[in-house]
Amino acid sequence: MKWFSLVASVLLLGTAAYGASLNRDITFEQFKELYGKQYTAEEEPQRRAIFEENLRWIQENHGKHGAGLEVNEHADLTAEEFSSMYATLNQEAFLKSPLHKEFVQVPESDISVALPAAFDWRQQWNTAVRNQGQCGSCWAFATAATVEAQYAIRKNVHVTLSEQQLVDCDHRPFQGQYEDHGCQGGNPIIAYAYVQQTGLVEESAYPYQARDGQCQSSTVNGHQRYHVSAGRELPFNATDETIMNSLHQIGPMAVLIFASDNEFRFYRNGVIQNLRPNSRQINHAVTLVGWGTEDGQDYWIVKNSWGPSWGESGYFRLGRHHNLIGINNYVFYPVL
Ligand SMILES: *[C@@H]1O[C@H](CO)[C@@H](O)[C@H](O)[C@H]1NC(C)=O
Repeated sequence: MKWFSLVASVLLLGTAAYGASLNRDITFEQFKELYGKQYTAEEEPQRRAIFEENLRWIQENHGKHGAGLEVNEHADLTAEEFSSMYATLNQEAFLKSPLHKEFVQVPESDISVALPAAFDWRQQWNTAVRNQGQCGSCWAFATAATVEAQYAIRKNVHVTLSEQQLVDCDHRPFQGQYEDHGCQGGNPIIAYAYVQQTGLVEESAYPYQARDGQCQSSTVNGHQRYHVSAGRELPFNATDETIMNSLHQIGPMAVLIFASDNEFRFYRNGVIQNLRPNSRQINHAVTLVGWGTEDGQDYWIVKNSWGPSWGESGYFRLGRHHNLIGINNYVFYPVL
């Protein structure tokens, strides 16, 4: 018995050291320890019940539709709680914004060239995967990522830019309201207008805090700033070919998706196929970096902002051709 518990605790430590790899046989007690979860006596039974329901779902669905799934730090949240914390892109404000219509265009890249079967921008731009934490700032991460990528690709300038600056300072008023709302959501196409006007400083000058704060104007004014000259948006529901051409010729693109399904929340690895096609509803912004094919399945390669222990080192591969979770619907990029 002693031997058994020693082995069990060594295994658990091993799991923790690898950043929660492939947890599917984990107990609630182990889960709490692994993620440092603390609950009040009142809250605990409810969290345990949610965890157990999620664990059952993960065990039943792991590998069933291709993608590997696992328990992660979000397994004690209901789908609604998860969405309200991590998938908070403000779709309403964005659809009303004049920038959304103003910037739409079919880029020159629609003139097709022969595209490779696999393509990945990470060979030229590979800043670390970030973690937005419990702040609805996905839009700031996709904005900073695509601007960084343009500097790396066009100018060979490799910088990590500040999302916190966007969270704190990008408050462009429109019809008496702000369009971007820090941790309450925003949108890359609107944020590019801020980057055009003000420019972004580096992450090291204005580090990420995962909460709303006062705009540190003197920090912004006192450091080198990286500007763009415009933001662009592909036509709604662009074809895979249009997106691939643009991605290939221009650089990584900020895309909007619906991120609340369990298959996405508990994704571990592989090509995710079992997600809704043509979602008009979107609630998360991520960064499209490439494409490829594995075992006859065509996929997109996408960078998320839920930390490096989610998915494939912070990235996911999503089935192509079906506009899954609305990935073809809103595609944006900055122009240097
Ligand atoms: C996008 O286009 C496809 C094919 O043209 C169509 O079947 C689909 O309904 C469209 N999706 C949306 C969200 O409009």
